[in-house]
Amino acid sequence: MPASSRIPPSTKPGPPGTEPARPSPSAAVRPWVLLSCAVSIDGFLDDTSPERLILSSAADLDRVDEVRAGCDAVLVGAGTVRADDPRLLVRGAGHRDERAGQGRQPSPLRVVLSARGRLDPAARVLTEPGAATLVYCATGAVAEARRRFGPGVEVADAGERPALPAVLADLHGRGVRRLLVEGGAQVHTAFLAAGLVDELHLVVAPLVVGEASAPRLTGRGRLPVTPRARAVLADVRRLEDVVLLRYLFPGQAD
Ligand SMILES: NC(=O)c1ccc[n+]([C@@H]2O[C@H](COP(=O)([O-])OP(=O)(O)OC[C@H]3O[C@@H](n4cnc5c(N)ncnc54)[C@H](OP(=O)(O)O)[C@@H]3O)[C@@H](O)[C@H]2O)c1
Repeated sequence: MPASSRIPPSTKPGPPGTEPARPSPSAAVRPWVLLSCAVSIDGFLDDTSPERLILSSAADLDRVDEVRAGCDAVLVGAGTVRADDPRLLVRGAGHRDERAGQGRQPSPLRVVLSARGRLDPAARVLTEPGAATLVYCATGAVAEARRRFGPGVEVADAGERPALPAVLADLHGRGVRRLLVEGGAQVHTAFLAAGLVDELHLVVAPLVVGEASAPRLTGRGRLPVTPRARAVLADVRRLEDVVLLRYLFPGQAD
């Protein structure tokens, strides 16, 4: 899809046999969605200080790198870009080489959701080489975003009111079959509330934040996981001083 294109109103299914993409609630074909994050014991994603709060252990960061290397795209919200300025690249040379050996780019496509398009043009996800970057903006913000981000960044028009099912269908149309969602709170909430998460990797770090205004794993919203519809605990792993909990959301994937 060229940089000037708009998300089509209808979606086309991907090639057969390339799943695990599943039908979304809008009946569109979409990628498998893996949401990955780390929280404190009391469920916070970050504290309120300007510095990035490190929650993962070194072993867990290596695990996340491997997970990232196994995906076709990694997606974050604009709030995470503004707060953390991530590069969203695969760090491990072995993982990059393995991807290259499979004829893939060394790192997955980097995807940013930014309805208003208000990202610093110097943000690392927009400027650091190593992977392509795609930013989904609302229609009214597209022209300005294209002007500010330059030709190296693709800006896609996600419509007047960007909706996740259409974004996922568009990513599927671009060949994305496995999508890693890496935050932040608003994006987690939107994906969970829309029933668009198939798998959750939740790391719990041994510290307490205790600041009511800090971002939590999810914000407000009617979330689909209730006591009557429990996620499936698929795995528990200790990685140095953190714990990884892997959940599946079968009701949403089937
Ligand atoms: N511990 C962890 O694992 C982890 C991981 C990631 C982030 N974090 C933390 O999470 C915090 C950031 O979370 P946050 O809730 O403030 O921000 P966020 O979820 O990263 O991003 C929210 C922004 O995403 C855009 N957006 C959301 N839904 C959209 C849609 N459907 N279409 C288009 N754009 C959409 C909007 O951007 P515009 O405002 O540009 O319109 C919105 O303001 C930071 O403190 C960060 O450190 C922690």
